[in-house]
Amino acid sequence: MNAKQKWIEKGYADETIDSSLDIKEEIKQLKKEKNALVLAHYYQREEIQDIADYVGDSLALAQWAAKSTADMLVMCGVHFMGETAKILCPGKKVLVPDLNAGCSLAESCPTDEFSKFVKAHPEYTVISYVNTTADVKALTDVVVTSGNAKEIVESFPKDEKIIFGPDRNLGSYINKVTGRNMLLWNGACHVHEQFSPDKLQALKKAYPDALVLAHPECKKEILEQADVIGSTAALLKNAKQSDKTSFIVVTEAGILHEMRRQCPEKTFIPLPPEGNGHACNECNFMRLNTLEKLYNCLKYEYPVVEVDAQTASKAVRPIHRMLEISEKLGL
Ligand code: 13P
Ligand code: SF4
Repeated sequence: MNAKQKWIEKGYADETIDSSLDIKEEIKQLKKEKNALVLAHYYQREEIQDIADYVGDSLALAQWAAKSTADMLVMCGVHFMGETAKILCPGKKVLVPDLNAGCSLAESCPTDEFSKFVKAHPEYTVISYVNTTADVKALTDVVVTSGNAKEIVESFPKDEKIIFGPDRNLGSYINKVTGRNMLLWNGACHVHEQFSPDKLQALKKAYPDALVLAHPECKKEILEQADVIGSTAALLKNAKQSDKTSFIVVTEAGILHEMRRQCPEKTFIPLPPEGNGHACNECNFMRLNTLEKLYNCLKYEYPVVEVDAQTASKAVRPIHRMLEISEKLGL
């Protein structure tokens, strides 16, 4: 069995790589050789963020993919991020270092059930969070991310009937801040649902001067205690611009790397998940991608993300619509 077969058959195993290799140097070489662009989400492992060409939130990743002139895109994130890039760039080879990197939120919205829900409400506009499969996007009128959901919802008339899926927490937060009454799909992210309001209260007592930064995928009881609610990029921007010097961060712990890099003089305190431990809250799917897998993926140009042409032709419209509205609004 050759190295590529091993890599594939062992399920993208790290140990197929010669340990004497300078992987970071090899990745840089391969990127150049293949004219490949490496995009990484803020929730990726630190070493992946450090080697990526761009690191950003879901909106920025889609925007960079859409604009890229590279021949190959390596999406260091989860599967739906790779799918979105592939739908936007059908002529490019799009890779995700580990295709098992799913998303519990996307999984909480099975296509058949969502399709029935949409069919039962024919007069409703369908707004879907980008954390969905390509099939769900194909049933959607406009896609949003946490970075533009409020503005995109507000771009519709106040009396527009809207279905919002799949995240119930983001949906109810947007309902609250826009005064809308969108019909919500009952989905959630297992990472953000795990944060405990009691632990947050205790941490606020311990750090009374700290600003609480929370992602809108968190439960209402968390968001009620937050000072700033926003996408990963928005939380980072707020941390940079704030006069405060300490921050309680309520989202996946990967964002701390960029926060600490950009604001070395400030203190960032991650809120641990529910339970007795003090470990940070990490997305097991995001963490599946490793430097070794990124290297193999660039070398063997595998695994590729595929979206069937019929689905892609439907899913591309709501994604383009999101990018157009975002551009108009300067987001
Ligand atoms: P962002 O929109 O901040 O990138 O959030 C993506 C995500 O998966 C949150 O869990
Ligand atoms: Fe999905 Fe949650 Fe992981 Fe984000 S953090 S990719 S929403 S499972």
